[in-house]
Amino acid sequence: MSHQSTYNPGTAIEKWLDKRLPLVRLAHDSFVDFPTPKNLNYWWTFGGILAVCLVIQIITGVILAMHYIPHADMAFNSVEHIMRDVNYGWLMRYMHANGASLFFLATYIHMFRGLYYGSYKEPREVLWILGVIIFVLMIATAFMGYVLPWGQMSFWAAQVITNLFSAIPLVGEDIRIWMVGGFAVDNPTLTRFFSLHYLLPFAIFGVVALHIWALHVPGNNNPTGVEVKDVKKDTIPFHPYYTVKDSFAIVVFLIVLAAFVFFNPNGMGHADNYIPANPLSTPPSIVPEWYFLPFYAILRAITFDIGPISSKLGGVIAMFASIFVLFVLPWLDTSKTRSMRYRPKTRLWFFLFVVACIALGYLGGKPAEGSYVVMSQIATAYYFIFFLVILPLAGIMEKPKTLPSSIAESVLKKGQKAEPSADAEPPPEAKPAPAQ
Ligand code: HEM
Repeated sequence: MSHQSTYNPGTAIEKWLDKRLPLVRLAHDSFVDFPTPKNLNYWWTFGGILAVCLVIQIITGVILAMHYIPHADMAFNSVEHIMRDVNYGWLMRYMHANGASLFFLATYIHMFRGLYYGSYKEPREVLWILGVIIFVLMIATAFMGYVLPWGQMSFWAAQVITNLFSAIPLVGEDIRIWMVGGFAVDNPTLTRFFSLHYLLPFAIFGVVALHIWALHVPGNNNPTGVEVKDVKKDTIPFHPYYTVKDSFAIVVFLIVLAAFVFFNPNGMGHADNYIPANPLSTPPSIVPEWYFLPFYAILRAITFDIGPISSKLGGVIAMFASIFVLFVLPWLDTSKTRSMRYRPKTRLWFFLFVVACIALGYLGGKPAEGSYVVMSQIATAYYFIFFLVILPLAGIMEKPKTLPSSIAESVLKKGQKAEPSADAEPPPEAKPAPAQ
């Protein structure tokens, strides 16, 4: 929230710097004395967790790149060299690979939080759109990163995904050749993917800076979806209240990451990626990493031609549309009420949407045959119906519950409920101790 700066440069050096480049003032006003709604719950800690994830990925990634060799003949062995010979190379690699998985998990939680509490609505549309841009960049980065070890799954994932572009009429095949740098996935593909995989995280970093800027203009949304009315009553300073809360969540998150890294480092990976890439032998099933499975299911759900659109092109369009729809979400949802807490019917549709997304994730990992295809088609249809039909109509048809008049009121009401009434039994510790 744009607010009056409370920064008071103490030392002569701080005063000197403040006149020339008020960086400390910016940090103070953004992360110390930033008025933050007093009712944020733990779902609001995932932004901070994501920032930590990005830093972990960049640090471990830069170290890995010191030892990795981006060449089709040497990439696989250089990764094995990192695992076996480089001091703590195994740790860097397992942190990077499992870190990527948990980065996506945290991103999905962060996005569903935004959906549930209506954080994408006016005046936070730009904040949301910047988030979707980050998500698209993350998808591209993770996809290209997965190709780098040049194992069987790396190679065939690159093959399948780049092939999708050839479904575009007229120019598709040219685009595919241009993307992979030749007629087939080979060394030029690997080197350009390495180059971009190194570059994109820094682009993500830049967009995250804009994302946080766009957050600080209107300020945080909160579980009630009601805007701050009285800064004194409705907010508390970011530090120490949320720095402590975020730090606690970050520590718990790091423990989960450590559990994977130390106890099940390959649990989220695929065994076939420990077989060197072989263009002459297709693996029995080509599956992407778990975090891409819902989109993979949507891609494969279109098994029929629609007029002049082939099933392959239809799948590609559906997959891209499933992400594109997020960009226009702020204008699809017509409800004035932000938080689903006060939208009882839409809330049920929302939970069904979460179930559909999880189902798509499950189905993306199954062979595209029989009832799996039918279920993918139903879940895909619901995914789009939720955005394109339910959200636009619910805003017009649903009568939301009465909103609290302010954040402070909603917090106080809760507190009052928790207090025992005057005539209730006193808690055991308040009773006099029985005579010995
Ligand atoms: C590298 C990835 C990301 C980072 C580091 C990041 C960081 C943050 C931070 C620090 C916050 C404030 C704390 C919080 O609300 O949790 C925030 C809020 C927000 N983010 Fe992100 N974010 C990322 C990705 C995304 C994505 C992919 C989306 C949506 C597509 C998104 C949408 C939002 C929204 C709508 C808010 C406002 C939340 C509210 O106040 O209700 N973010 N983000």
